Amino acid sequence: MYNFSYSNPTKLIFGKDQISKLSEELPSGANILMIYGGGSIKQNGVYNKVIDALRGFNCIEFSGIEPNPHYETCMKAVEVVKGKNIDFILAVGGGSVVDAVKFIAAAALYEGTDAWDIVAKGAKVKSAMPFGVVLTLPATGSEMNSGSVITRAADKNKLGWGSYKVYPTFSILDPTVTFSLPKKQIGNGVVDTFVHTTEQYLTFDVDAKLQDGFAETILRALVSDGPKALADPQNYDVRANLMFAATLALNGLIGLGVPQDWATHEIGHELTANYGLDHGQTLAIVLPGVLTVLREQKQDKIAQCGRNVFQINEQNIDNQINKTIAAIENFFETMGISTHLSSYGIGAEAADLVSNRLAERGWVIGEKQNITPKIVKEILLLRK
Ligand code: NZQ
Ligand code: ZN
Repeated sequence: MYNFSYSNPTKLIFGKDQISKLSEELPSGANILMIYGGGSIKQNGVYNKVIDALRGFNCIEFSGIEPNPHYETCMKAVEVVKGKNIDFILAVGGGSVVDAVKFIAAAALYEGTDAWDIVAKGAKVKSAMPFGVVLTLPATGSEMNSGSVITRAADKNKLGWGSYKVYPTFSILDPTVTFSLPKKQIGNGVVDTFVHTTEQYLTFDVDAKLQDGFAETILRALVSDGPKALADPQNYDVRANLMFAATLALNGLIGLGVPQDWATHEIGHELTANYGLDHGQTLAIVLPGVLTVLREQKQDKIAQCGRNVFQINEQNIDNQINKTIAAIENFFETMGISTHLSSYGIGAEAADLVSNRLAERGWVIGEKQNITPKIVKEILLLRK
């Protein structure tokens, strides 16, 4: 196991009716900016619950954060924060709203000339506005981590960044608010959680028994309860398990002291930026390709995943790996998320485009930093 240090300051408030606790978490007398997305919260009752809980506070709203949030939209919110003397931000939505709020919180106090440098150049975030979260879509783990992914629409750059300064102060997770998710978003969320876990688990063995065990438990919970959420959308326990799984998959815990991959995410972000696919869809396409092309390097862990998650016990290692990769792909399809580019009307030319984009950035990715743009092309050609 590698050395590590860990601290996570986000307070989690989990369960039914917990949005009513919101006022206890907010600084008294604060000027609050509530930020949300395209309006799903007005249809499913979350907006009214939040407004009720905010009674007595000064609060103004900023809406219209889009999925895969745009830098351009975030900068409009930064103007509101500065112009209206805001001192606390409340994110109400899925990963896109939370990621946008992280960027807004940092950009509002950024002293440099161009806030995009925070995302594109890793400019240091010396301070950020405090913010809390009411989460509506379990997927990204953004509610309990310090990462954010922002897209600059002008030049189709979708990039991740992070800072210890942008952990949420608190996150309220009420599984009942996820009852209203469209089936596609249930599938996307389960696939995203699955792939966050594999990015930190399907690498090479460093004898990290706890981390492997946590990862396998998350994967088994997804395989068990993901399809149940599609079949029985109002099942509270199923939604609670999926929601907590998503948080634990990317709050730092399972990645402590182990090698991490993230190639599937890097390739997936290019597919979203250039073709508009949902984040979860891109991962369902790419992961089986990464595992196939990197099968030798990852073979011990793929075989272990087969045994401990999918109960596959082949004597022959090639059979074990083939069956495990097939089981993962089949699981994504069971969740209603197609695993091939052609299902989304995208041709083989995507392999060249994505590989060229990564080459322009000079990126070589994966847990051994050996996935070159040429190998990225090979991966995507397998996923036509
Ligand atoms: O915008 P509204 O109207 O709210 O609708 C949203 C949106 O259209 C809708 N939705 C959310 N909660 C709902 C709901 N509809 C009905 N009922 C509810 N309870 O779902 C749609 C998708 O929402 P979005 O927030 O975009 O989804 P998700 O949570 O999957 O976030 C995706 C973004 O997170 C980034 C992705 O790249 C992408 O930009 N990621 C962030 C990470 C992080 N910060 O650590 C890690 C991830 O790997 C990921 O890259
Ligand atoms: Zn993800």
